Amino acid sequence: MNVTNSPIPSRHFPKDASPSLSEFKSLCSRNTQSKQYPLASSIQSNIPIYTLPPFSSLTPSQISALQDEWHHILLSGPGVFVTKATLPRPLITQTNTIYTSIIDAERATAKGDHFSSAGNNSRIWNSFSKHALADPASFVAYYSSPWLSAISAAWLGPAYRITAQVNLVCPGGAAQVGHCDYHLGFQTAEATAAYPKVTQIATQLLTLQGAVAHSDMPLASGPTRFLRFSQAFEAGYVVYRMPEFQEFFQQNFVSVPLEMGDGVWFNPALFHAAGENTTSDVERCANLLQVSSAFGRTMESVDAVPLVEKCWGKLVEMFKGRDGVQRQKPW
Ligand SMILES: [Fe+2]
Repeated sequence: MNVTNSPIPSRHFPKDASPSLSEFKSLCSRNTQSKQYPLASSIQSNIPIYTLPPFSSLTPSQISALQDEWHHILLSGPGVFVTKATLPRPLITQTNTIYTSIIDAERATAKGDHFSSAGNNSRIWNSFSKHALADPASFVAYYSSPWLSAISAAWLGPAYRITAQVNLVCPGGAAQVGHCDYHLGFQTAEATAAYPKVTQIATQLLTLQGAVAHSDMPLASGPTRFLRFSQAFEAGYVVYRMPEFQEFFQQNFVSVPLEMGDGVWFNPALFHAAGENTTSDVERCANLLQVSSAFGRTMESVDAVPLVEKCWGKLVEMFKGRDGVQRQKPW
């Protein structure tokens, strides 16, 4: 069989030619146009910032218009946006007491992880489940936020699933290397290369990456660094480890300060990295969210039945409307 004259192009990114660094630089040097996102309150360092009004004050069409902007940002815009005061500070404070008790209980066996060494980093894997089992009331209040739902549905549509991990970085905590995330970002370069081009591109549609700030995060504390528009580079998962692409990330990333309760949301294919905590007194803490499409596979397994059993009473209360929680579906 003669395969040399086939008119069908390879389904893979070519192994013998590096993707164009100059195209990457050009793409990631674009500026975010404020007129393109009129519902944003401001654009800071090319990142649209949204000040959220009370959810119940908005009509479905107003919510949908916000969702249109967010979807556009994630798909073909800068790839990241911030929502201010997404969750109320008292709820974050209550949740932090739960996180602290979980971290203390797990500290005896802590060994650090692939993000940082033990001593300057605490992490709660599957904080979603542990939070629910430890304090159903604050868990239900947290994850029933209509804004979490609206933001997730904007990218994924309905029937998504959430997994979460808490990351606490103490003063002196090191920066991460620029990277892309779940799913393909967690694979080796060789494993990634085995996936067809279109599959690599499509995986970014299966996850929304987010973080809720559980502390104030001044720039010196190292809030997440982002390389704007990089999610739109089709070969991103192939190239993000290459030194020349890493160098461009290091020279051109942006980040914005966050306040407790703010949310930051980004496409998992966007080049990003946690920053260095150069403060002497800020413990930077975030709840990292991966929201997974109904058509995807979640990053962690959540055994939902015990969580439902634990939270059932609170859920019934909410269903009966005793606490006045807004239940309008944002899609
Ligand atoms: Fe990451």
